[in-house]
Order: sequence, then C-alpha cells, then structure tokens
Amino acid sequence: MAVCTLLSFIWFTILLLIQPYPSFGSRTLSAIVTNPPPPLGICASAVTKYGYKCQEIDVTTEDGYILSVQRIPVGRHGGGGGGGGGGGGRRRQPVLLQHGVLVDGMTWLLNSPEQSLALILADSGFDVWIANTRGTSYSRRHVSLDPDRPEFWNWTWDEIAARDLPAVIAYIFQQTGQKIHYVGHSLGTLIALASLSEGKQVDKMKSAALLSPIAYLSHMTTALGVVAAKVFVGEVTIVFGLAEFNPKGDDVSRFLKGLCADPKVDCYDLMSALTGKNCCLNASTVDVFLRSEPQSTSTKNLVHLAQTVRDGVLAKYDYGNPAFNIEHYGMPMPPIYNLSNIPKDFPLFISYGGQDALSDPKDVANLLDDLKLHDEGKLSVQYIKEYAHADFIMGVTAKDVIYDKIISFFQRNQ
Ligand SMILES: *[C@@H]1O[C@H](CO)[C@@H](O)[C@H](O)[C@H]1NC(C)=O
Ligand SMILES: *[C@@H]1O[C@H](CO)[C@@H](O)[C@H](O)[C@H]1NC(C)=O
Ligand SMILES: *[C@@H]1O[C@H](CO)[C@@H](O)[C@H](O)[C@H]1NC(C)=O
Repeated sequence: MAVCTLLSFIWFTILLLIQPYPSFGSRTLSAIVTNPPPPLGICASAVTKYGYKCQEIDVTTEDGYILSVQRIPVGRHGGGGGGGGGGGGRRRQPVLLQHGVLVDGMTWLLNSPEQSLALILADSGFDVWIANTRGTSYSRRHVSLDPDRPEFWNWTWDEIAARDLPAVIAYIFQQTGQKIHYVGHSLGTLIALASLSEGKQVDKMKSAALLSPIAYLSHMTTALGVVAAKVFVGEVTIVFGLAEFNPKGDDVSRFLKGLCADPKVDCYDLMSALTGKNCCLNASTVDVFLRSEPQSTSTKNLVHLAQTVRDGVLAKYDYGNPAFNIEHYGMPMPPIYNLSNIPKDFPLFISYGGQDALSDPKDVANLLDDLKLHDEGKLSVQYIKEYAHADFIMGVTAKDVIYDKIISFFQRNQ
C-alpha cells in the first residue's frame, strides 16, 4: 500500500499531462522528459505579460534553503477596493498560495487571468503571494548545499511545514504588517494543517482555504499491480536512494516506461483509479502545464507520504526503527500531528471533490471528524461531486464553483 502511494503521486502528475488524450502513450512520457524548465522567472513567464505588477523575492529558511516567492501586489487596473472589496483606503490583505507536491507556484497561473486563482485574487483587491517549496526549479538553492548532492534532498514535508512555511509567512508579515489568508492545494493543505495542529502560524494567519485536502491518505484507491509495486520498491531503494526525485530525470522516466510496458499494468485505467477523473481541464492549459511541471521533490518526502498511507495517522517522518527515532525525537515512535488541536475558532474553508482519488472522500471524512468540535461558523465545507484533484487549481469552472466562495470566505474573516 505504501509503495502504491509513491506511485500514485507520480501518476497524479502524469494524469494531468495525459487526461485530455484518449490513451496513454510513450509520446506523452517523452514530452515530460524532454521539456526543459522555463528560463524566465514566474513573474516574467506568467504574470507581467497580462499587465500585472509582479515582484520576484528570495526568502531564506532557517536551515539555509533559498526560496523563490512571487508577489502580485495589485490587480490589473489598480485592483478593486483595499482588502478584497472593502472600502477605498483600506490596506490590501495578503493571501499566500501554497502549491502541492511535484509541482510549483506556476500551478496557480496556468489558465487565463479570468480563470486563475492568483490573478482573480489580485483583481479582487488582495495582495497575492505565491510560494515555491524547496527543491522546485526556482527554489533549488541553498546558502551552502549543492542541489547535485544528496544532502540537499534530506527533508520531507515535516521541513516544508517547519521551515519553508514559517519563513515565507514571517516575511509577508514583516512586509505588510498584517496577518495573512492562506490557500493550499493538496500537500499545501497538509503542511498548513500540521503547523496549525502544533499551534504554529496561528498568530500570523487570519484564515485558511484548503482545496483537495490531504491529511489522511489511507483510503486512497490504487489499481496498481503487485508486480509494479515490487519494481518500484527496488527502484526507490536501490536506484534513487535518499536523494532527488526528478520526474523529468532519466531514471524515473525509464522506470515509468518499464511499468507501462508490463502487460499486467494498464496505465490508462491506473490513472483514473489513482487520481480520479478530472471533469474540467482545458487541453491548452495542460500543454502550458507541461512546459513547467512536473517538478522535483525529495525521495524522502515521497517515502514520508507513503508512511502516512501505511500508518493511517499523521506523524513525523519515521526513521524506521525505535533507536533512530529516539535519536531524532527522543521517543521510539515519531510524534503525531493531532489535528484535533487546531484552534477551534480558526476560520477554515475546506473544498473537496467526489472524483478525487488522491484526496478520497473517506479520508476527508476522517479529517472532518477531527474537526467535529470546531466552532460552528468557523468551518465551511464544500463538496463538489464532479471534481477531481487537478480541477481545483486548473478547472475552467473553478472560479464560479470555488474561487468566488473563497473570496467571500476571506471577506467574512478579515
Ligand atoms: C539528514 O538529516 C538528519 C536530521 O534530520 C540527520 O540526522 C542526517 O545525518 C542527515 N543525513 C545526511 C546524509 O545529511
Ligand atoms: C482553453 O485555453 C485556450 C488557450 O488559452 C483558450 O483560448 C480557451 O478559451 C480555453 N477554453 C476554455 C473553455 O476556457
Ligand atoms: C488528539 O487530541 C485529542 C484532544 O485534544 C485527544 O482526545 C485525542 O486522543 C488525541 N489523539 C491522539 C491520536 O493522540
């Protein structure tokens, strides 16, 4: 099961690439492998061309990673009233957008300005900030570690939650003097939930909108064959080691091609089974996506996600034996993130999809159970029957279905 999870994250990415095509072919795989990352920064390649101001900013984490952050301070036409529709003269409220695993901040900017959440928020009067977590193409930098060395990739989402998120939030807080609203997708929801459950960032955040939330992963359905799973275990531990996991790299691509060549593995069915059938993607947008994604992450991060599936609890990275865990945590088992500890009056908006095989409705039900004592009125939950994982960030109907609701949620919680 754990191993299948690793694959499902890869397959999620692949699904995004091939969804509009009738069948899975090696043509698509080659496209993934041969597309180089865009040479321009995110502002230049996806924001300023539409007439928005956009700043490229570097934020350094406590452990030395240099993260690329984009700020879109106003909308195209000076951008609505201050603070998302408030009266003139009020300060614009900052919103941080946090992407998921194997992608980067570009995911918020793939559709037209009228359909992309980052630009919709800017045009609605918000001060928009886009995070790019460690290891993604614009955040492959460190004050002393070289990304070609394994030490650079020695982290999981524990560190994204404990280092990247606080660094970026502290920077925004310092620049704007205001608490922020947060939007996370997929892994971006997990790191917020993990932080909030430890009482962190609560004092710097006004509210959080969580799209396609990932906390529990035990019900994620996978149609992956046992043969494929075994191959993957071998590849992960022997070929990849604890290092970079680059979906565009030769090792990973050879591995994927090998899997699809196995007669027991039907890649097309596998895809639907793993991530769900996205209802509302634009084929042109998927091509844009191809140019910048998928992005690297650390193999250790994928192993940690797999542990989450295996164990059915949300815990820190498991070093695999009690002695190592005692060395790192002072206890034989890794500490748990207890989501019931999220402050009950913290405003949360949760939106999940009926077709989402990564953020399975049963796992979302577990998350909601942890939040069952949350103050009424501080928790808004939206269920979208026809949506799957990628529809939340790239769906052509997402503005009407979700984004307008996020904006009113933020306005209610200024
Ligand atoms: C990876 O980080 C852990 C601490 O999180 C440390 O104990 C270990 O020595 C590091 N390994 C490498 C190869 O840098
Ligand atoms: C899909 O994307 C193309 C290219 O950006 C655009 O011209 C078209 O209007 C989009 N379709 C929808 C339904 O948004
Ligand atoms: C989480 O915390 C709640 C109350 O704060 C407690 O009742 C529950 O047992 C905790 N769960 C775990 C798994 O520790």
